[in-house]
Amino acid sequence: MGYRIAIVGATGNVGHEMLNILAEREFPVDEIVALASRRSLGTEVSFGDRTLKTRDLETFDFSGWDMALFAIGSDATKKYAPKAAAAGCVVIDNSSLYRYDPDVPLIVPEVNPKDVHGYAKKNIIANPNCSTAQMVVALKPLHDRAKIKRVVVSTYQSVSGSGKAGIDELWNQTKGMYVPGQEVEPSAYPKQIAFNVIPHIDVFLDDGSTKEEWKMVAETKKIVDPSIKVTATCVRVPVFVGHAEAVNIEFEDFLDDDEARDILREAPGIMVIDKREDGGYVTPVECVGDFATFISRIRQDSTIDNGLNLWCVSDNLRKGAALNAVQIAELLGREVLKKG
Ligand SMILES: NC(=O)c1ccc[n+]([C@@H]2O[C@H](COP(=O)([O-])OP(=O)(O)OC[C@H]3O[C@@H](n4cnc5c(N)ncnc54)[C@H](OP(=O)(O)O)[C@@H]3O)[C@@H](O)[C@H]2O)c1
Repeated sequence: MGYRIAIVGATGNVGHEMLNILAEREFPVDEIVALASRRSLGTEVSFGDRTLKTRDLETFDFSGWDMALFAIGSDATKKYAPKAAAAGCVVIDNSSLYRYDPDVPLIVPEVNPKDVHGYAKKNIIANPNCSTAQMVVALKPLHDRAKIKRVVVSTYQSVSGSGKAGIDELWNQTKGMYVPGQEVEPSAYPKQIAFNVIPHIDVFLDDGSTKEEWKMVAETKKIVDPSIKVTATCVRVPVFVGHAEAVNIEFEDFLDDDEARDILREAPGIMVIDKREDGGYVTPVECVGDFATFISRIRQDSTIDNGLNLWCVSDNLRKGAALNAVQIAELLGREVLKKG
């Protein structure tokens, strides 16, 4: 016996990846339904070698469904996730709506799997921000060995992190640079994204940081350890898929780069590619479609006592969203629902 599972936002980038990953990992599915807005009624989406016709989320009844993997914006999630949860269906949510709710676990299965048991308070589990998910997979095994005091991270985030609108804008604006009369003004982003980088993701906060930067701080504390200090600069770059991060870590105990490399090689979800030669590191285009978070450029930071630098790259639609959501579904199945 398998699960009855709903994919909410099945026509979007993350929804599409969740369907692919459920099929790739042979998740035990008894019945699956693809849901989106009424605009997409009847739109066909693929699930393995099957085709599903998208149904209208607004009129869907979640009673009798085991899990719903949500990948729609926070506003729509606010309207529909409580309905699904009240109908007894466990919601695994990709939006930021519930991430900071003390009654909702925020889970990266390689890092804090035991927190899954907290799902029952609201019947909801939150999936972290894409930049946080890939970073904490790398931080956790290093923290367990040498206790992290502080992290300084700069991100290089692809446009697929802002949904279909971001992908379309990079594509059309890039084409428009070469075709007179087809120039595309910024709309998904505050400034030109083609051939540019933008140090601004999500809204500004009173202290001058952005909400995206604040998310990395708050989520790392909730998932790994509240004592870890994090300061972030989040930057949008003209890459379609794959987020990269330059991470500087200060530890309480000494940890040299060789031992860090060995620890990360053994850590779940991590692939170390770190040769000190031309091309001996991973870039975003190489991680697309992969499950792993790739770590390269591991080296000592000689400006502080116990410091390391590293480069962290992952497919933001996978580990940053869809894969992590499916891993949570697998964890919930294994630890709690126990079907399949
Ligand atoms: N992309 C990432 O790297 C990433 C990472 C972590 C979290 N997330 C989060 O995941 C969610 C989805 O992101 P995405 O990149 O997949 O966005 P997307 O490609 O723009 O897709 C949005 C999806 O939401 C559906 N939707 C929007 N409003 C709806 C409504 N009122 N009722 C029903 N369905 C509605 C859309 O359906 P229609 O096609 O019918 O409009 C579509 O299926 C967002 O909350 C995002 O913040 C994304």
